[in-house]
Amino acid sequence: MRKNVYNLALIGFGTVGRGFSEILIKKRRLLEDYGLEVKVVAICDIYWGSIYDPNGIDLSKALNLVESKREEKILEKEYDAPYKGWDAVKTIKETNSNVIVEVTWTNLETGEPGLTHVKTALSEGKHVIMTNKGPVAIAYHELRDLAYENRVFMMYEGTVMSGSPAIRFIREALAGVKIIEIHGILNGTTNFILTKMEEGWSFDEALKEAQRLGYAEADPSADIDAWDPAGKAAILVNTIMGGRIHPKEVEREGIRGISKESVQEALKEGYKIKLIAKIWREGEEIKAAVKPQRIPQTHPLASVRGVLNAITVKTDHLGEVTLIGPGAGRLETGQAVLNDLIAIHRYITSGSKFYA
Ligand code: HSE
Repeated sequence: MRKNVYNLALIGFGTVGRGFSEILIKKRRLLEDYGLEVKVVAICDIYWGSIYDPNGIDLSKALNLVESKREEKILEKEYDAPYKGWDAVKTIKETNSNVIVEVTWTNLETGEPGLTHVKTALSEGKHVIMTNKGPVAIAYHELRDLAYENRVFMMYEGTVMSGSPAIRFIREALAGVKIIEIHGILNGTTNFILTKMEEGWSFDEALKEAQRLGYAEADPSADIDAWDPAGKAAILVNTIMGGRIHPKEVEREGIRGISKESVQEALKEGYKIKLIAKIWREGEEIKAAVKPQRIPQTHPLASVRGVLNAITVKTDHLGEVTLIGPGAGRLETGQAVLNDLIAIHRYITSGSKFYA
């Protein structure tokens, strides 16, 4: 079978970049069956260093170096690559990559540095897969136009509900319905903390565990103060609802004011406290809000526990349709990157139009 060759540059080799690399090693055979020949030709990480080999990097070796030594610039020091030390922009522009995987940290104020990485990649005519929420939350329309102009795909499934396919679920599986309203639980860390507080853990203990498990953002106040779900709500408004909103315009209240005692009191009264994101239409405008709410224990969202997320889409012809699944995690988010890669391949080989 003829295979399409995808040379990937990983911009970021943190939790998600490494989670995806592990998956790639495991799923190489499956990708071949799908008709993809995938190589990672470059890894560029601000802490671990930057390496480029046009013939492909040995991912097991790179993973092993980082996991076992955990030393700054370890890839440059100990991985024998023909080119080293290139910054992200040079890596995007000058490597023989044709797919840029942007998995650096999220910045919901400016989108940077991810935004520059994505713009550079699209302008160079390279497909982009990102789990970084900043660029798509802040500059979706501009990036979409850039992707169209350069005839490439821009994929961002992992930005909302990690590997649970929220974007494709709405955009493709529900194509044709009118979306009246969306509500859901879009942050794994806070849902994990709220669940653990029901079980008697303190806020701080639960947050530490969420960090240990790789759910929390680099700065966990992004989760606690609901910036992260506000960013995800903005992504849904901009990409799926046809609206235009900045994360700062999403009404927002986090879970800082929620104590173990209040969670347990709600429980006794037949409620659960959940951080609920809501997107709705108001005339021509699409609005969004994220706030903690008391949900009756009989409500489907009350049963969404731990790092699980959920999205309920209220439609004209189907009533309410709900997707429940993991919302964070290294392999879970790595899976979103794999899914986007397979999607790009499917679209290319079926002659689909480029889109973002
Ligand atoms: N910090 C995010 C969460 C990661 O907890 O949901 C996934 O976007």
